[in-house]
Formats: sequence, C-alpha cells, structure tokens
Amino acid sequence: MKALQCVELAGPEKLIFGEVDDLVPGPGEVLVHVKAASVNFPDVLMIQGLYQFQPPMPFIPGAECSGVIAEVGDGVTACKAGDHVFVMAGHGCFAEQLVVEESRVNLVPNEMDFPVAAALAMTYGTSLYALKQRAQIQPGETLLVLGAAGGVGLAAVELGKAMGARVIAAASSEEKIQTCLEHGADEAFIYPSGNLDRDQQKELSNKIKELTGGLGANVVYDPVGGSFSEPVLRAMAWEGRFLVIGFAAGDIPKPPLNLALLKGCQIVGVFWGAWTMMFPDENQKNFQELFDLYASGKINPEIADRFSLENAGQAIAHLKNRKARGKVIIDV
Ligand SMILES: NC(=O)c1ccc[n+]([C@@H]2O[C@H](COP(=O)([O-])OP(=O)(O)OC[C@H]3O[C@@H](n4cnc5c(N)ncnc54)[C@H](OP(=O)(O)O)[C@@H]3O)[C@@H](O)[C@H]2O)c1
Repeated sequence: MKALQCVELAGPEKLIFGEVDDLVPGPGEVLVHVKAASVNFPDVLMIQGLYQFQPPMPFIPGAECSGVIAEVGDGVTACKAGDHVFVMAGHGCFAEQLVVEESRVNLVPNEMDFPVAAALAMTYGTSLYALKQRAQIQPGETLLVLGAAGGVGLAAVELGKAMGARVIAAASSEEKIQTCLEHGADEAFIYPSGNLDRDQQKELSNKIKELTGGLGANVVYDPVGGSFSEPVLRAMAWEGRFLVIGFAAGDIPKPPLNLALLKGCQIVGVFWGAWTMMFPDENQKNFQELFDLYASGKINPEIADRFSLENAGQAIAHLKNRKARGKVIIDV
C-alpha cells in the first residue's frame, strides 16, 4: 500500500511518501480502507517528537480518518466488512490502509460523505465535550473563541451557536474572521498574529469588555495559549468558565491565579481524548448528537483545502504555517 512515513523527527518536508507492506488485522482489530483523512495540530507536533504520545519510529502520521471496513479480525463484534466508519487512530491514517483496535472505530451514517466524516470526530468531538460537559454553556451566554477559524475553533463557533450562545470569534486575519462569520459567529475581530506585548494585551482585554457591554465573556474557548490567555482571563464575566484547550502559539501561559479569585471564575481543563477512554458511552452519545446536528444543517465542517495522499506532507505544513481554515482534508 501507499503511505506517508515519518523516518526522522523533523518538519513536514522530511516526511517520505512511498510503498509499505499491506496490513492484516489481528484478533480484536479491523482493517480499514482509508477514503479521507484530516490534519490536526497533534500531527504537526508528533512528527517533530513534541507530542505527549510518540509512536516508535518509523511511523505513519495522521490521527484521524474515515473509510470502509475491509476485514475484521477474530472476536470483533461491533462492526463488519462494508461498514462506513471514522477512526480516531492516534497515528497511521495518512495511508491507504489502517489496522486499529475495534474500540477506535465508530460507525457513521452512510449518507455522510467521507471528507465530512474525516473532519468531524476530533474537532467537533473536542468542542462539544468542552462546551457541553465542561462549560455547561447556557443559551444567551457569551462565548469567546480564540483561533476561531482553526479546526477546533470553528467547531466551537458552530456548536456555540447551535447551543444558543452569542458567539464572538477572534482570529489573526480578515479572511479568517470572514470564515467565522459565515459559520455563524455574531461578531468577529482580528488580533495581532505575533506575541502580544503589554499594550496589545490591554487592547485585547478592552476589546472583549467593549463587545460584552463591560461584563466580560461567560465562556472562553482557548486553543491558542501563549500571550493571549492572560488578557482574555482578565476579561471574564463573573462565574465565567475559561476552557483550556491547547497551546497552538507554543508557550504554556502561567496566569496569576488571583484573576480566578477576582472574577469568581473557573479555569477548566479539557482533555477530550482521555475522557473518551474513561466514558466511551457518553462520547458515543455526543457523536450521535453531532450526526443529528449535521443532518439538521446546524453544523457544517469547513473544508477549505484538500490534498492528495502523495502531498499529505504539504497538508501538514499548511496547518503548521497557520494557513488552514476549518479542516484540511487528504483524499486517499
Ligand atoms: N484539549 C483537547 O482535548 C484538544 C483536542 C484537539 C486539539 N487540541 C489542541 O487545540 C489546538 C488547536 O488544534 P487544531 O487542530 O484546531 O489546530 P489549527 O486548525 O491549526 O488551529 C489552531 C489555531 O491557532 C491559532 N494560532 C495562534 N498562534 C499560532 C501558531 N504560532 N501556530 C499555529 N497556529 C496558531 C491559529 O489561528 P489564528 O491564526 O487565527 O491565530 C490557528 O487557526 C492545538 O493546540 C491542539 O493540540 C486540544
């Protein structure tokens, strides 16, 4: 089969595309013929050796894909050959074939096309869990989303709207905020793309206060981190929830904890992957809710860019270089 391989921990330009051995499922495993895969930020980190879980070298990158079950190993009961699925594999998806444990495979409705199925699980799964289970967001509350045109960010914009929130999107370019408005954001503004200095941080806090009538945001969704988190925390509403999603800007912020005291707010950690392992049944209910929201037109993943499997390295570079809007898809 054809696959993209990581043979040294480095940037996307060092990935190698070529032939590798075909795969055979063992007991409890399934063989998936991959139809579409999508790029997520952890792919960028993993090929550089910067992610919390590292597969042994060499490995095939790609955390997430959709496809058709080609064969099941002994003891598999949850799915059968011919089923349409999406897969949260961790790695191995940027290839024609994938073998995973049956627990990593989820059936998808046959009417959902493969690129959409590949775009849905990680970003919408994370954002639904964050807004519903972690923030318990309520209709009428204000949701501020940073990095709002990115994968998890745009999912949070759409889901926030679907849950009745007033959504303020923040991103680094005009094109990106336009995408957020097209996906339902009530308001959107541009922030600087580099590290924020003191004045820029103050400006960001003031902007949020201005857009919330001085009250601050009830819920903040932060996949960016770096110099952005503290000024946003300074613009929380009383009893607000600040969702710690990720650190795409690179640095892990260390905001003074007196801000949580002064705002009477919560700083809430979100680790969707761990939750799916601990509460698989709850996660299945969330997936079903996502399928229903998609069928009713309330969510619609943005697929702005598509690449061939041969060019999957360029797809990872596209995300790494901050050019992506919504999801980057690899057609296999
Ligand atoms: N907690 C969880 O369970 C969970 C699950 C999935 C993902 N995540 C994390 O969420 C974050 C976003 O993931 P994603 O897949 O949505 O990535 P993505 O599509 O690349 O979105 C990240 C956004 O961050 C912003 N950003 C700011 N500084 C950046 C920089 N220096 N480099 C790259 N982007 C930068 C960009 O928006 P602007 O250009 O508009 O600033 C970009 O759109 C990652 O840290 C990822 O690990 C967490």
